[in-house]
Amino acid sequence: MTTPMLPGHPHTAYRGGELCIATQPLAALARQHGTPLFVYSKAAMLDALAAYQRGFAGRNAQICYAMKANSSLGVLQVFAEAGCGFDIVSGGELDRVLAAGGDARKIIFSGVGKTRSEMGRALQAGIGCFNVESEAELEVLSEVALSLGQRAPVSIRVNPNVDPKTHPYISTGLKGNKFGVAHERTLQTYQRAAALPGLKVVGIDCHIGSQITDTTPYLDAMDRVLDLVATVEAAGIPLHHIDFGGGLGIDYNGDTPPAADALWAQLLAKLDARGYGQRQLMIEPGRSLVGNAGVCLTEVLYLKPGEQKNFCIIDAAMNELPRPAMYEAFHQIVPLAPRDTATTVYDVVGPVCESGDWLGRDRALAVQPGDLLAVLSAGAYCMSMASNYNTRGRPAEVLVDGDQATVIRERETAQDQMRHERLVNTR
Ligand code: LLP
Repeated sequence: MTTPMLPGHPHTAYRGGELCIATQPLAALARQHGTPLFVYSKAAMLDALAAYQRGFAGRNAQICYAMKANSSLGVLQVFAEAGCGFDIVSGGELDRVLAAGGDARKIIFSGVGKTRSEMGRALQAGIGCFNVESEAELEVLSEVALSLGQRAPVSIRVNPNVDPKTHPYISTGLKGNKFGVAHERTLQTYQRAAALPGLKVVGIDCHIGSQITDTTPYLDAMDRVLDLVATVEAAGIPLHHIDFGGGLGIDYNGDTPPAADALWAQLLAKLDARGYGQRQLMIEPGRSLVGNAGVCLTEVLYLKPGEQKNFCIIDAAMNELPRPAMYEAFHQIVPLAPRDTATTVYDVVGPVCESGDWLGRDRALAVQPGDLLAVLSAGAYCMSMASNYNTRGRPAEVLVDGDQATVIRERETAQDQMRHERLVNTR
């Protein structure tokens, strides 16, 4: 018997009482590779990408996967092979894109704190564009480019001062955020960029936040960015591309973000109406491409009933699932093989020595020690934010493609973690 797919997880469903991704029973993968274990669906990633591709059909658009969401090589390879570019925020991310076979010319380099050495390496690799976030950064980038005999392609990230109505930690386009150049200083900043000998102005960029589920902030931000395009171009500085971002949300718990193609139909209508419909477009989606393509499998270690709370202690923790601890984020937690018995309400917690190490609060579950659970929506900002706190090794990762399941990362050992450490010679 096949029950309907899980909300938000298009390729994950119960078959014969067992949770599967495509044809793969997840319990078998957990037994084979151990837990905690991340399992990703390639088809779900490509479906999510297809929604953007449909939205941009017939347009001049480049999708640059924001790899901070999940930077594992096997995941990057999926997007590189599908023709995506990459949005990177560090020299380490540049190395990963190149190692995964990505095209350097399709890389955009974002972030408020690029170092000279990162700039130099990106220029030598021949990346497509630097999204510059401050006037001070423009000066340094020009110097670095000149020292290499190059002109760096730049786009200036403008801060549209729009409220994306998301968690304050992941809102990026408000005046009080550290990101981008203030709306009022945009023209001056472009004039400075155009005057610097080591720079070549190629575009404009804006990003308002992440996990956005409402269309209005996008439409408002687009209006403000297009006003700036008009102002900058009227001053004689042509902008070849418009990079427009704001991370589209995913369904964690009944969230209802617009579909990528529906959102872009509205944004493209606005671009058309204002005469910019044929401009080269760039977008930097992360979460919406991978978030609901992944789950984290975990085993129930102990049940601990209490007077005030019952705890379900699992072998995954804030190390690999940091979002509840950091943002009080909600991830669904479901059994791999549901039991027919009565449920009990538990706080689902990990083994780390912190009260903040919780994965779900007040969850009704019918479980016994040894049962396997899946933490859903774990494809984005989980493994890429994983830590070794408590000297816990980071989990293994498996990529499912039809009936093939490939280990794309081995489980990290304590030896791996200690490899670069040295004892002090006391003699
Ligand atoms: N481009 C820029 C310049 C960004 O700052 C971000 C996200 C993205 C692209 C990708 O946004 P997405 O499509 O993934 O929403 N760790 C947080 C999310 C931080 C997002 C930061 N910037 C979380 O787990 O919710």
